[in-house]
Amino acid sequence: MHEIASTNLVDRFNRRIDYVRLSVTDRCDFRCTYCMAEDMTFLPRRQVLTLEELARIARVFVGLGVAKLRVTGGEPLVRRDVTALFQQLGQLEGLRELAVTTNGSQLTQYAPALRAAGVTSLNISLDTLDSQRFRALTRVGKLDQVLAGIEAARAQEFSRIRLNAVILRGSNEQDILPLLDYAVSRGLDIAFIEEMPLGQVNLAGKPLEFVASDSILQTISEHHDLQMESAPEHGGPARYWRVDNGPSRLGLISPHSNNFCASCNRLRVTAEGQLLLCLGNEHAISLRDLLRDGASDEELGGAIRKALNDKPEQHVFAQPDQPQIMRFMNASGG
Ligand code: 5AD
Ligand code: SF4
Repeated sequence: MHEIASTNLVDRFNRRIDYVRLSVTDRCDFRCTYCMAEDMTFLPRRQVLTLEELARIARVFVGLGVAKLRVTGGEPLVRRDVTALFQQLGQLEGLRELAVTTNGSQLTQYAPALRAAGVTSLNISLDTLDSQRFRALTRVGKLDQVLAGIEAARAQEFSRIRLNAVILRGSNEQDILPLLDYAVSRGLDIAFIEEMPLGQVNLAGKPLEFVASDSILQTISEHHDLQMESAPEHGGPARYWRVDNGPSRLGLISPHSNNFCASCNRLRVTAEGQLLLCLGNEHAISLRDLLRDGASDEELGGAIRKALNDKPEQHVFAQPDQPQIMRFMNASGG
C-alpha cells in the first residue's frame, strides 16, 4: 500500500525528508587532507549538472515539500556564475532556509551577493587558527584569506554563521580551545566534526585520526560553562550546547560515537546528479540521466519518491576488512 496524498517526502522508517544538500561542483581550491588526495582528477564538465539542471532539481524538491536547501561542493563558490543559481534558489516558493557550506576562501568577494540572493545561513570550515597548520591541513589554503572571508560574512547579517572544524589526532587538537574562543568572541556557532571514512584518502595505510566528540566536550567543559540545548534541532546530526550563556553554540557532530540516523531528515544530490539516500551507503539514482532523458517534473518527483524506499535505516561505516565506500567527500557534498 502506498500513501499518495501527502506532498511531503516520508521514508519507510517514517522519517520526514525536508532537507536536501546539493553539491554544485566537485572542484575546490583547497586539498584538505581528510577530504581529498593531493592529486585529484575532477569530473569532466559534461558529467556535472548544469546550473539550469541544478535549479530544476531544487524546484522539484521544494515542490515535494523540502523546506531547506544547502548548497555545497567541493567548494560551491568556485563554480562559475554560481550567483545566478543562488538568485533562482532564493526565489523558490516554500523554501524557508537557503544555506551554503563553504571553505571561506571566496567570501570577501561573494558574501554580499549571497545575502542579497536570499542565502540565510553559512557554514564555514575552519580547522585551525595557526597559519602553518592551516597550510598543512588544506595543503594549499591561506588562513588570512579565510579569516577575511569570515569577517565579510559577519558584515552581512546572515541569520546564522557556523564554523565547522574537523579535529585530527596529532594534528590540530591544540586548536580546539582557540577555535572555540574565536567563535564565541564573535557570537558565531562552532561545530566539531568527527572525521568520517569517505574516500581513498582513508584507505589502507591511513588510519582514521578522528578525535571523539566526548573528548572534545571534556576539554571544553573544563574552561567554559555549557548548557545543553533541550530541544535539539529537528533531524540535525549535531548536538548543541550554549556557551557561557552567550549567543554562541557549541555543536558536536559524532558519526562514530553517536548514531543520529533515526532522525535523519536529509538527502544529498552529488555534483553529477546522483541522489544519495545516505552518506554511508551506496544507494543512489541518477537524476541527471532522468533529466537528460527528458523526464518531466512529475516523473522526476516520482523517481525521487520511489528512491526514498531505499533510504537505509542506518549508516554503517565499513570495517578495514570490508569494501570501502569509494567516494570522496568533495563529490558527495559533505
Ligand atoms: N570527515 C568529516 N568531515 C569532513 N569534511 C570534509 N571531509 C570530511 C571527512 N572526511 C567537512 C569539512 C566541511 C564539511 C563540509 O565537511 O570540514 O566543514
Ligand atoms: Fe575543499 Fe572542503 Fe574538501 Fe577542504 S573539505 S578540500 S575545503 S571541499
